[in-house]
Amino acid sequence: MSEVSVKSLFVSLLLIGLVASTVVISSRAQQSDVLTGNWAAASPSNDGYVRKAYFNLKQDGEQITGTIRATQFFYKINKSTGGPDGFTLEASMMDGKSERKVTYEGKLVGNELQIGRRNRPDQPITFQTAVRAPEGEGAMPARIEPPPLRKVQYNGLAKTPPMGWNSWNKFAGRIDDATVRGIADAMSKNGMKEAGYVYINIDDTWEAGRDAQGNILTNTKFPDMKALADYVHKKGLKLGIYSSPGPNTCAGYEGSYGHEEQDARTYAAWGIDYLKYDWCGARILYTDEEMPAVYQKMGEALLKTKRPIVYSLCQYGRQDVWKWGPDVGGNLWRTTGDIRDTWDSMTNIGFRQNELAQFAKPGHWNDPDMLEIGNGGMTDAEYRTHMSLWAMLAAPLLAGNDLRNTTPATIEILTNKEVIAVDQDKLGKQGRQAWKSGDQEIWTRPLSGGATAVAIFNRGKEEAKMSVKWADLQLANKKVVRDLWLHQEITTAGLEYSVTVAVHGVVLLRVK
Ligand code: GLA
Repeated sequence: MSEVSVKSLFVSLLLIGLVASTVVISSRAQQSDVLTGNWAAASPSNDGYVRKAYFNLKQDGEQITGTIRATQFFYKINKSTGGPDGFTLEASMMDGKSERKVTYEGKLVGNELQIGRRNRPDQPITFQTAVRAPEGEGAMPARIEPPPLRKVQYNGLAKTPPMGWNSWNKFAGRIDDATVRGIADAMSKNGMKEAGYVYINIDDTWEAGRDAQGNILTNTKFPDMKALADYVHKKGLKLGIYSSPGPNTCAGYEGSYGHEEQDARTYAAWGIDYLKYDWCGARILYTDEEMPAVYQKMGEALLKTKRPIVYSLCQYGRQDVWKWGPDVGGNLWRTTGDIRDTWDSMTNIGFRQNELAQFAKPGHWNDPDMLEIGNGGMTDAEYRTHMSLWAMLAAPLLAGNDLRNTTPATIEILTNKEVIAVDQDKLGKQGRQAWKSGDQEIWTRPLSGGATAVAIFNRGKEEAKMSVKWADLQLANKKVVRDLWLHQEITTAGLEYSVTVAVHGVVLLRVK
């Protein structure tokens, strides 16, 4: 080899080396912020409305910061590990108070993120594909100051606790127009309408986005809400709907934030008779202390439409809602978290309402959540206890089962007119616990015309012989005692009445 060719070989090797190291350095530089950007992951849907989660990330080498928006939640990323080939993001809710934390796992695949979170430690992650979205899309909306507090005039509705049906317990996100019509058909034929059930309430997941003028749109499950309302009205029933004061509902659909009056006008134009207004998405913008003002806004908006629309507040009993619910125009307010179709859930909610009795009155009711009767998770005896307890509590009676497909026993429980008469008593006084020993409880409720409802509950796992001492209940001068499940008068010659109460059962009496 000549001296020249050795030299040129040396120079080319040097060049190759230089180029190679530049490639390594530049690809590292790219790697160190390649995740930075606004990423959107669309959830699959069967209703034409695309719900998106947003990952607004800033990658600085080994560290990823930023925010995550998913359903109604906004999170701030506190901690990260890894990089584009595999990372985890630990985030907590941005209301600064909530304990809610989430961990996402993801990686960059080509131009897309594969990202997901584990809902439960024993479950696998369902990954979603996120693509780059314009900066600003999905950002936290600007906060609108809540109005100063002023008393909203009573709308004159719900003189007795509302009765009807709600879609959530049984159908959740699967509710659609055809099902609502089917439920209305069933309710007008199965004795429920005659028994007093009137509202057919569509819960979350009917919404789509908004049109250019900001009007709320329905998704493909509800092609024509006005036509649906007409259908329900023709059956002699009423139609209810659902929204949130936040930008998103609990299920991540469009809320009424910044559109309160416009939405109220739309509901009125459709012929809506009842609104359940669910806090969920509002917590990213407002504190619990601001709840009254935020609820007042929709209370006023509904009143302004001049259409009679029952106003149901759903904020899980936070902030002692029973103290201010009536002032913001509320006809009823949830007092607890969500009910489930189990004995424990139902009784934990129902038997804990004692302290709230003083707050119920005609036009304004405590709402321990919808009925689970007929959904299959409890025995018929347990469902009778559910119905009796809700009647003692002057609770709204909103059935939550599939009325198109139900057993005679379920209908019999839901349409027991003597029990319903207790619930609907026009005095509107909520019952209270009068006596308790272990698993046994006796509750009483004053009724109009000087009568009293007496519920003898056996919460135990064994059948129990229980006794009511009339004098203990200030009922020593009682004359007529009627068993509201057996539909018969009972003879009670003595100072007390003893009866065998089934496992998880109830004996419900009307004493006069
Ligand atoms: C909350 C409410 C439920 C139901 C769902 C809908 O959990 O408490 O009753 O309305 O939202 O997403």
